Amino acid sequence: MLHDIIALRKTIEQDIEALGSLPTREELERFRLKHLVRKGTLAELTERLRSVPKEEKPTVGKELNALKSFAETEFKRLSAIHASHTTPTATLDLTLPGRPWLYAPKHPIRQTLDDMLAIFQRMGFAIAEGPEIEDDKHNFEDLNFPPDHPARDMQDTFFVEVTTPDGIKRHDVLLRTHTSPVQIRLMKAQAPPIRAVIPGRVYRNEAISARSLAEFHQIEGLYIDNDVSFSELKGTLVSFAQQFYGPMLGGAALQYRFRPSFFPFTEPSAEMDITCFLCTGKGCRICKYSGWLEILGCGMVHPNVLRAGGIDPEEYSGFAWGMGIERVTLLRTGIDDIRLLYENDVRVLEQFV
Ligand code: DAH
Repeated sequence: MLHDIIALRKTIEQDIEALGSLPTREELERFRLKHLVRKGTLAELTERLRSVPKEEKPTVGKELNALKSFAETEFKRLSAIHASHTTPTATLDLTLPGRPWLYAPKHPIRQTLDDMLAIFQRMGFAIAEGPEIEDDKHNFEDLNFPPDHPARDMQDTFFVEVTTPDGIKRHDVLLRTHTSPVQIRLMKAQAPPIRAVIPGRVYRNEAISARSLAEFHQIEGLYIDNDVSFSELKGTLVSFAQQFYGPMLGGAALQYRFRPSFFPFTEPSAEMDITCFLCTGKGCRICKYSGWLEILGCGMVHPNVLRAGGIDPEEYSGFAWGMGIERVTLLRTGIDDIRLLYENDVRVLEQFV
């Protein structure tokens, strides 16, 4: 019996050797059927163990067990090598159910933008966009900010270092501080009437906190035609406020007011306040107990700006406005830290489907 075990070991060793370093599935299966199954060589020897004299059994049994575990270990090792070298397509199981796609809701900022833009689109405004990297001319000069005018300090600017292909360093390239430069680009690109809303990202060099970031979003609006009046500005913006903010007041009437203000690119200029929709005007921490929330800046387009855009101020007039998106997004979602809007943490985003 011991001889047979030794002989079988020799066979198994030779068979393993023949399998080589990368056996095929068929070769592995042949090995398994020959040695490892119930009617295989090892099982056959195990069967014969019964007839071995009692005193030899421990030695023979030990030898046989060692051979069995040798054969099994080698088989497993070679099967693993086979599996790791098999191309995925060969094992692709087409009957597996597909992985579910995660439903991707709109980001809260996108939701606010889309809700606002939809209202203006219904009023006949087109959507336009412009570049985030601008030059001083579009961002300031053409918008009637004279050089060294203190109004430039209202918007702390990130400048961009640019060297032109012919080696000249430009010092007038910047990240736009507002969406207003797109007004100029639109005026240059098309003749009046112009009726557009311009959503986009803007940048200011500000300290980052729960309330402010160095980047945020605005929607700019521009309307230019013959005889556009301040009452049309009011009509447009009041209608917008009623549609967008009205439903947030829970049945209370929306009040509004226009306060005189200053922007270099509009004359006259105003800021628009509406009833605080958190306290419906009763006074709260958010509206600083005034009952009013400021929602936008606006005014009649300054003649110098029309001229910079190539439009004759004797023939045309217009109004413009600009408003921030982040603050209202925080207020309508109840998110209390603006940084959460930019971290894209799924645990936050999935709450606003
Ligand atoms: N660009 C201004 C800002 O970022 C907002 C603004 C005010 C835009 C009045 C306008 C406007 O078009 O008429 O603070």
